[in-house]
Amino acid sequence: MADHTLAIVKPDAVATGKTGEILRRYEAAGFRIRALKMVQLSKGDAERFYAVHRERPFFGSLTDFMSSGPCVPVCLEGDDIVPRLRELMGATDPAKAAEGTIRKDLAESIERNAVHGSDSNENAAIELAFFFSGLETVQ
Ligand code: RTP
Ligand code: MG
Repeated sequence: MADHTLAIVKPDAVATGKTGEILRRYEAAGFRIRALKMVQLSKGDAERFYAVHRERPFFGSLTDFMSSGPCVPVCLEGDDIVPRLRELMGATDPAKAAEGTIRKDLAESIERNAVHGSDSNENAAIELAFFFSGLETVQ
């Protein structure tokens, strides 16, 4: 059975008109889009979503950024989708990301880095449930 993961087009990429290019890259990689919407997180929403990072020095700045404008959460489906999306995204810091990755080509900085992708199947299930109800995800 195919796996599912959560991608987010982050507020920097939405604000600079890169949403379409990022969605195009997901589809060009063969990933199937199963749910999609645009939302603006509150500061509290962003703190809950990134709670795993609450002790990190960048937590306040990260949650300010993630609540600074609309973002586009996406449910993607495919075999081994979690590691394949992480590969397509590239390293967290765009300066260290491989050629041809989304972050290398489209991200501004280690924080304003254009996209999110879940880091495990377990976290993908938790993060998808944060954004989407069963009704919003096509089978
Ligand atoms: P993400 O969770 O957003 O997919 O990114 P990631 O796994 O590549 O990176 P992670 O370590 O989970 O960090 C989450 C997000 O926090 C911001 N960050 N800023 N200023 C910094 O040193 C720093 N480090 C991380 C980035 O927006 C990163 O994507
Ligand atoms: Mg992460």
